[in-house]
Order: sequence, then C-alpha cells, then structure tokens
Amino acid sequence: MTSPSPNTDAPASSTSTHDPAVRPRILTGDTPTGQLHLGHYVGSVRRRVELQETHECYFILANMHAYTTRIDKSDEIRRDCLEIVRDYLAMGIDPDKSAIFLQSEVPAIAELTFLFAMLLPFNRVMRNPTLKDEIRVKGLGENYSFGFPLYAVGQTADILSFRAHSVPVGEDQVPHLELTREVARKFNQVFCGVDEHCDDSEHEQLGGVFPIPVADVGRVGRLVGTDGVNKMSKSLNNAIFITDTFKKIKKKMGQLYTGRQSLTEPGDVNNNLFQYVRTFIEDAGRVAELERAYAAGDNIGDGHIKVEVAEAIDKLLEPMRERRAQYEGKDAEILEILKAGTERANALAEETLARAKDAANLGFFRREIRMG
Ligand code: TRP
Repeated sequence: MTSPSPNTDAPASSTSTHDPAVRPRILTGDTPTGQLHLGHYVGSVRRRVELQETHECYFILANMHAYTTRIDKSDEIRRDCLEIVRDYLAMGIDPDKSAIFLQSEVPAIAELTFLFAMLLPFNRVMRNPTLKDEIRVKGLGENYSFGFPLYAVGQTADILSFRAHSVPVGEDQVPHLELTREVARKFNQVFCGVDEHCDDSEHEQLGGVFPIPVADVGRVGRLVGTDGVNKMSKSLNNAIFITDTFKKIKKKMGQLYTGRQSLTEPGDVNNNLFQYVRTFIEDAGRVAELERAYAAGDNIGDGHIKVEVAEAIDKLLEPMRERRAQYEGKDAEILEILKAGTERANALAEETLARAKDAANLGFFRREIRMG
C-alpha cells in the first residue's frame, strides 16, 4: 500500500472499511505469555466476541512487550503467539470480522513509540501503577531493562496507531489507557493546534490526528485465580485454561481459598467463591438462591458450590475445547490468519503514521510496506 502524501497534497483518504460514525474502532490484545485462560475470557475476550458485530476490531499480539521481560525466551514467545491465535479462534473471535496481528510486524507502532516518548515526562511513565505492580509481582527489583518501562509508551502507540475510539480491557490496564489519553491530547495540542481546554470528544473535529480513546472495562474486570488471592495468571499457577478437562477444573476449583475462616465472615457472599458463582452460573434465579442459602448459613457447603461452579465452567469451555482441537498442529493456517490480519493492520497504521508525521513536520517522503 502507499502512504498518504505529505501535507502539501490532499489529505489521506481513510483505508478503513467502515465509517467510524457507524462502526467505532476498537483495539485491544494480549501479551503472549502462554495459553489464554478463563481470566482472559471473562475479563476481555468475551466482550471482544460481542464487539465484532458492531465495531471495527483490531487485536494485537504484543510480542515485543513480552521481550521486555523475557528476552531469553524468544522461542517460547513466538510459539505463544500461535497458541493465542488458537485460543482466540476457540473463544469465538472470527478472523473474517476482526484483524488479529503481530505487533512486531507493524513498524508504525515502533516509530510512534519513539515519537510519543518525547511527549511524556520520564517520571510520568515511571509513576504508572501497573508498571510498579509488575515490578513487584515479577520480582524485577532494579534489574529491569530500559525497554521494560518503554513498553507503557509502546502501548499508547499500539492503541493510537489505529486511532481506536475504545479499548476493551481488564481493570489492570486502565493506567495504560490514562497514559494513552494524555499522549493523544498532548500530540493534538502540540502538533495539530487543538485547544488544551477543549473536550476530549472534540479533538478529531478540531483537527487532532488522534481521537481520545476510552477504556471499556468488562463486567468482571479482574477474575481472582484459584488460589483465591491473586489475579488469575499463568505464572502464578492459579489459572483455569480452556483446554482443561472437567476433572481438572473440579480439582482447581476445589483449591479455591474462600476466606470463610478469616478474611470474610461466615456466609459472606462477597467472597471469591461467589465471584465465580455470579460469573459462571447463568441462571440468575439459581445464583440468588445460592446467595440466600449461603448467607442464611443453611446447610450448603463450599464444596457443593464449587462443584456446581466447575460444572458451569465446563459447559462454557466444552465448545471452545472442540473448536481449539480443530486448529491443533495447523501452524500454516494460523500464520495465514496472522498475515491477513497484519496486512490490514499495516494499511491503517501506515495511514495514521503518515498523518502523524505530517503533523509533526516529519512528512518528507512516501513509502510502501509489502509483506512477502
Ligand atoms: N498490556 C496488555 C496485557 O498484558 C496487552 C496489550 C498490549 C494491550 N498492547 C495493548 C491491551 C493495547 C490493550 C491495548 O494484557
């Protein structure tokens, strides 16, 4: 494709297939750290599957982000990218509707990261609570790479390269969205003459390159893991995977610490187990009945409820396990899906980059990206 012309020529035409007024655009994605689990599904992917019907969807595999803490595991990261595509397909993402693409194959993202890094005070980046949390949880101490905090700037470029209007994410990603909104406002003010007192919704209308994106936090922003303490995460060994059998799900649910003894009062329906009840048991009447019986201290034990939740999870995962099995061992097919998605992603991101470069007085030449 050809990038739009420098500022002397007519403005670039949109390469997107949908009028954003009709179909707003979303961008979200995952860092490849192994198979996706139930936490990813309820926190984000479930919402994406719905949004495919009404939005123009871009889903990024943030493989460069994975390199920021696991540079020694590049082989695993590559493999995980393909696994995530399998999980997406299994969970219901349709590659004909949504573009699934590789971060590392969209050069506009890296270029905008560098440019955006100049719009943010260094200390502002380091104040990001999600970064601080990761440093603590992963035990990085002071020994993280320069690229590690840079990934937060990179994430603003992931989103803004696609001029996304909305970003469906779990709650832990909200600080990244705040940073993204700051970058977008700052860029539009510094390079596009957008007034700093204008409303976020007016930026594009007033000539800003970037819309100010909003975070769309799912109903269950953060699913607690089967340890009952931390967010569900593969590395913390507290995750239920979509490939888990009923037996495995039951065993993992059995381990859920409900805090009945100390953290919460007996019969407290705000405990971790009841988060699962409300998330996975579909029949609202049954949920209410369980809550009532539990709170009343009727003879209804954690063990019984855990089995009921495990059954509900199994019912949800069964069709996913079947769909996933169809893509097992089909790497060539998965790569084709990724290539098609990455081509679409580059078409849009190159257009954004050209507009941003024009605005920032960097629009010197045209260029083309061709994938082999
Ligand atoms: N940081 C996100 C995570 O680990 C993944 C991600 C990368 C992302 N770029 C993004 C999410 C852009 C939303 C938008 O889950």
